[in-house]
Amino acid sequence: MANRYYQEGEKRADGVKDLFAAVAPRYDLINDLQSFGMHRLWKRRLVRLAEVKSGEAALDLCCGTGDIAFALAREGAQVSGVDFSAAMLEVARRRLTATSGCRVTFEQGDALSLRFDAQSFEVVTISYGLRNLRDNDAGLREIARVTRPGGRLMILDFAFPSNPVWKALYTLHLKTVVPALGRLFCGDADTHSYILESLKRYPGPAEIGRRMESAGWKDVRWWNVLGGVMTLHRGVRVDEQPG
Ligand SMILES: C[S@@+](CC[C@H](N)C(=O)[O-])C[C@H]1O[C@@H](n2cnc3c(N)ncnc32)[C@H](O)[C@@H]1O
Repeated sequence: MANRYYQEGEKRADGVKDLFAAVAPRYDLINDLQSFGMHRLWKRRLVRLAEVKSGEAALDLCCGTGDIAFALAREGAQVSGVDFSAAMLEVARRRLTATSGCRVTFEQGDALSLRFDAQSFEVVTISYGLRNLRDNDAGLREIARVTRPGGRLMILDFAFPSNPVWKALYTLHLKTVVPALGRLFCGDADTHSYILESLKRYPGPAEIGRRMESAGWKDVRWWNVLGGVMTLHRGVRVDEQPG
C-alpha cells in the first residue's frame, strides 16, 4: 500500500511537511529508540569531520529539532538552522538555552531556495535531510551556491548495507520495529514506514558522491557507518561552480 507521506513529483514537499508536523513532538524520543541512541554518535562524528573552527559561519539545513546546530555551536560556530517545518522548529527553539542562543538562530525556509547570499557559509551540514528533498541535485547545487570556495559540506543519511544478510536484517528493522514506534508514539505507522519508502528511492553512496561532484563539490569522500546502514559524505566547495 502507498505511504501517505511519500508523494511523487510536485507534491513531495507537502507530504514531508505533513509527516514532520505529525512527528515533531516525539521526533527526538523515536530517534533515540529506533537507533538505540546511536544517532547521537553518528551526529558527533559528522561534526568532527566538518572540522569547524571557532567563529565560522555554519548552516544546518533541514535542522529539525536542532541536534547538529547545537553541536556546531558548541564547537564555536555561528549557526543558522533552517527547516521548512514550523512544528520541528518549535521544538528546536524550545531547546535553545542562554548559552546556545548567542550562537544559534533558527528560521523557516526551503532547502531548495535559500534566502542567503552566495558564499555565506564556511560549513553546511544536512543530516537526514537530503533524502527528503524533491530534487537532490537541486539541493546540492543550492548548498554549493551559499557555501564559500573551500567550505565543507557534511551529509548524514540512511543507506542500505552491501552485505546481504545485514541488509535483510536492517530492512526487517525498518519494516517492522520502526513503523511500530510510529504507531505507538504518533498513532500512525506510516510516519515511520516512510523511512524505508524514501530510502528505496534514494541513490546509494557512490551515486550521491558523483552527484556532489557534478553540483560543485570536490575531494568527495564517504564513510559507511555500522556496516553501511548510514553514510557520512564530505565534500569541499570548488572555487568555481559549474555553469
Ligand atoms: C529527519 S528530519 C532531520 C532533522 C535533523 N537534521 C536530525 O538529524 O535529527 C528531516 C528534516 O528535514 C526537513 N525538510 C525536509 N525537506 C525540507 C526542505 N525542502 N526544506 C527545508 N527543510 C526540509 C523536515 O521538515 C525535517 O525537519
